Amino acid sequence: MPIVVVVGGQWGDEGKGRIVDLLARKARVVARYSAGNNAGHTIINEKGEFKLHLVPAGIFYPEKTCLIGNGVAIDPEVLLQEIDQLEARGIDTSKLVVSDRAQAIMPWHKALDALEEQARGASAIGTTGKGVGPCFADKVARRGIRIGDLLRREDLAERVNQTLEYQNRVITRVYDGEPIRFEECMDRYVDFGRRLKPYIGDVQSVILQAERRGEHVLLEGAQGSLLDLDHGTYPYVTSSVPSSSSSGAGLGVGVGPTDISRVVGVFKSYCTRVGNGPFPTELFDEMATTLRDHGKEDGRGEYGTTTGRPRRIGWLDAVAARYSVRFNGLSAVALTRLDVLDELPSIKICTAYQLDGKTIDTMPARESMLNRVRPVYEELPGWQTPTKHVRNFDDLPPQAQTFIRRVEELIGCPVDLISVGPEREQAIIVNPIF
Ligand code: IMP
Ligand code: MG
Repeated sequence: MPIVVVVGGQWGDEGKGRIVDLLARKARVVARYSAGNNAGHTIINEKGEFKLHLVPAGIFYPEKTCLIGNGVAIDPEVLLQEIDQLEARGIDTSKLVVSDRAQAIMPWHKALDALEEQARGASAIGTTGKGVGPCFADKVARRGIRIGDLLRREDLAERVNQTLEYQNRVITRVYDGEPIRFEECMDRYVDFGRRLKPYIGDVQSVILQAERRGEHVLLEGAQGSLLDLDHGTYPYVTSSVPSSSSSGAGLGVGVGPTDISRVVGVFKSYCTRVGNGPFPTELFDEMATTLRDHGKEDGRGEYGTTTGRPRRIGWLDAVAARYSVRFNGLSAVALTRLDVLDELPSIKICTAYQLDGKTIDTMPARESMLNRVRPVYEELPGWQTPTKHVRNFDDLPPQAQTFIRRVEELIGCPVDLISVGPEREQAIIVNPIF
């Protein structure tokens, strides 16, 4: 039965939460498969505006089961706060299942995230500071602590004992930082385990049961594919696998590639990036401010959901998008925030790069090359007409239709969904995804 994956196609913040919220209507199970509470999704529905960092965007539909997969790094304190806040606003979280195999973000991960960034100096990555990178590093180094370990004091003590001494040595000797105290950490995390216990379970079996019953499952990506540890703009990436390329989505919940039937990539009609690293189409003029502050008064401006940082802004980069379409194996694109372009007299799309006098149409791997590329632009006429109310492709202004058709051509993937505003209904379904 269809497992549909939704991934961010660019550097994150493409509006995945909004698209998942829309697609979740047809799914029975919605699962997060990667990243941690570095992610931030803004969702606006009839109950108000919500900012989620860990709980899947399907939570607003009471009959859906929501899962947090093994591929996610969970700060238990943040998860509990999010659950409490949802409950306080009348959202039922009783159908949430959190994988016992997911990694727990521990106090030393947060300390190390800050210390490592400081030590990087001018080449800081610009992380969200939530401890996600050091947590995934521990997972790979096989000294991570998993959510299931929080359920029994003895198990936790054994795991913390194995790791904390080492991490405290790094914190104090490498970085001159303050050591983490064993007892304090134990008491807090045993308590987190006690409070999370009703939610902890086996995510993979929930998905398999849903598949057997013929129900739709939606796998919700976090961040963007160009922040992918393998395929992104390394080393300016996150430490997990936002893409759906075989190691991402399936790995993060425990299903195989043959279980996945469709992969939807969410792309903004322009580009944004938070944090440092290459961004070939970045704009530094008034156009950046215009796009960043569009809808700012309604909280829709381009400012980070997790950190509040202003996002860097650029034109749509079709070279990067094409690359992302390929390594994600995308079957469809959801193009978001088309309405943000409504007032512009003309719109640019980057179709190729100039690198040392040559034209190239692929994304180089090396940072030094990515920093040197110059975008080659194609300029299309704007529509200068509001699109917020449009619900059918044919009712879009002809210039907007031309823009979308050109995007499809350049990136090599059909645009099946277009969003023209933050509300659930402000969408144009060109081809139903389920
Ligand atoms: P980290 O994931 O906190 O280690 O940060 C690594 C990079 O990924 C930084 O450039 C962050 O700004 C970026 N990043 C992490 N999470 C998100 C997200 O949800 N949206 C956009 N950028 C993100
Ligand atoms: Mg976000």
